[in-house]
Parts: sequence; C-alpha cells; structure tokens
Amino acid sequence: MAERTRVTEEQRGPGDGTAPITTDVPAKPVPGRIPASETVFRLKDLHVFYGSFLALRGVTLDIGRNEITAFIGPSGCGKSTLIRCLNRMNDLIPGARVEGSIEYHGQDLYGAEVDPVEVRRRIGMVFQKPNPFPKSIYDNIAYGPRVVGMKPANMDELVEQSLRGAAVWDEVKDKLKESALSLSGGQQQRICIARAIAVSPDVILMDEPCSALDPVSTARIEELMERLKQDYTIVIVTHNMQQAARISDRTAFFTAEVGEGGGDRTGLLVEYDRTDLIFTSPRDTRTEDYVTGRFG
Ligand SMILES: Nc1ncnc2c1ncn2[C@@H]1O[C@H](COP(=O)(O)OP(=O)(O)OP(=O)(O)O)[C@@H](O)[C@H]1O
Ligand SMILES: [Mg+2]
Repeated sequence: MAERTRVTEEQRGPGDGTAPITTDVPAKPVPGRIPASETVFRLKDLHVFYGSFLALRGVTLDIGRNEITAFIGPSGCGKSTLIRCLNRMNDLIPGARVEGSIEYHGQDLYGAEVDPVEVRRRIGMVFQKPNPFPKSIYDNIAYGPRVVGMKPANMDELVEQSLRGAAVWDEVKDKLKESALSLSGGQQQRICIARAIAVSPDVILMDEPCSALDPVSTARIEELMERLKQDYTIVIVTHNMQQAARISDRTAFFTAEVGEGGGDRTGLLVEYDRTDLIFTSPRDTRTEDYVTGRFG
C-alpha cells in the first residue's frame, strides 16, 4: 500500500487547488510527489568519481522539459559536479568519470556514438563568474554560431535576437563593437546567457549564475529565467534559498555524508520534489534543517 503523507494547506501554499483543510496526499516512491512532465534528463544511480574519490553517489532523478530545476545543498555536496555531468563538462577534468546512467531525451548521454561537442551545443552552460570572451559584444554572440558551423541567413539578426532574448539588447545595441569586458557584471552575465542562446540550445545549465551579482542584476536574471523557460529547460545551482523558492519548479536537495565504512564525505541526493513542497513540507529532516537555516 502506498505510504501517505499529510500535507496541510498552509504547508502547500496557495494556488495548487487543494481544499482548505488537511488533505491526504498519496505519496509515490521516488521521484516522489512530482507531477509528470516530459522528461529531458533521466539520471539513474549516478556515481561520479574524481580518480578514486567518490564525489557523488546514487543520484536518481528526472528533469522535466520547460521547467526550472534547482540544485541546492551545502558546499561540497556535488552540485557543480552533477550539473557538469549534464553536458559532459566533467569529461574535460582529468580523472573524472561517471557510473550509472544519464539519458537525454531517451538517449544515453555517455554513449560511444555521442559527440560531446554537439552535446555542449545543445546543452549550454552559464557560470558563476560572468566570463565573456575578450572580444566585442557582437563577436561574443556571433562566435558560437560560427564555431559550431551554423550558417544563419543574417548574423546581425541572430545577434540581435540573442541579445533581446537575454534582455540586454536595449543596453548594448549602440555599442555592439565595444568590448564585452567594458560592461557591468550583470550585463556581462546576460551577454553570457545571450551567447548560450545563440547556438539554439535545448537546455541551459547555470551554476550559481547570480552569486557575483548585485540584487538588481539578480532580479533581472531571475525575471529573464522565467521567460527563458518557455523555450528552454533550465537547471540552476544556487546557494540562495529564496532564489530557488522564487524561480524553480522543482528542487533537489543534496548533502555530503561520510559513508557507513567511514572515509571521505560523499555527496548524495536527499530529496527531490516540487519546490513548494521542498520548502514547506519536506519529508526528510535533513532537508528541513537546511531550508530553515538550521544547517549549512
Ligand atoms: N576537479 C576536481 N578534482 C577533484 N575533486 C573535485 C573536483 N571538483 C570537485 N571536487 C570535489 O568533489 C566534491 C564536490 O564538489 P563540487 O564542486 O561539485 O561541490 P558543490 O556542491 O558545487 O560545492 P559549492 O557549493 O562549494 O560550489 C568536493 O569534495 C570537491 O572537493
Ligand atoms: Mg559548486
């Protein structure tokens, strides 16, 4: 018989159609109370090693299309390690290897026939520190499409569309030939998002994209992400709990623990669920301690 969890109206928050009294919600096994949506990534029992060090163990979760999925958890629990696996960036780290599987639209992402360069075109990445190329604003955007062999009918148009898509066009349209490094941090980060969009990706991965930004720039990026998810699937790592709660549809909470046999601390997925439930009625006390600030 399915285990049942009691979730109250206060805990669930407004807007999800539950009656204003305590309700019994049938709890499914992993991935828990997550409603079905088209799956983009399916991770099964993923382990990630750096040499002999097991950084992350046994991660099983699905990532849904046109959603924002947030990875949260204390420093060193493997969030960056995991997000880098999603576009095979870990391949570039000597000694890094994965066990278990990641399916991307049903295909083995680590299959022998898969071209990692094409993977990184379809699954773009935005980093913590804005890292525009030391080139003009225009060339920052045009570079990717040229390198991957895209032949847009009109490159100017593609550059404009990408900059508009990243909500930075109005601020830079009169200085496209100037260096991207002359822009503010928040503008540079939006240039990096425009650069990611320019190669027509399917997924955008963001590893703490706002942690180097001021609150105003952060708000702009958050607003932008809300719009981007109409067209893209987004995975974000964030230390900012309010940010995860505000913008994401689902949240995965990770922690790092020493295994039964002792040794190094290894990252693991504690709980994955709809964001409102993670923040209002987590099932695991470790999640509750973290989201309420008692830990981390
Ligand atoms: N290139 C690497 N080589 C060896 N070990 C690594 C490497 N990158 C990360 N690690 C180790 O893997 C574990 C997970 O690191 P990771 O950077 O994924 O954590 P994180 O959750 O992103 O932390 P933070 O919140 O501080 O960014 C840590 O113990 C870290 O020291
Ligand atoms: Mg990290």
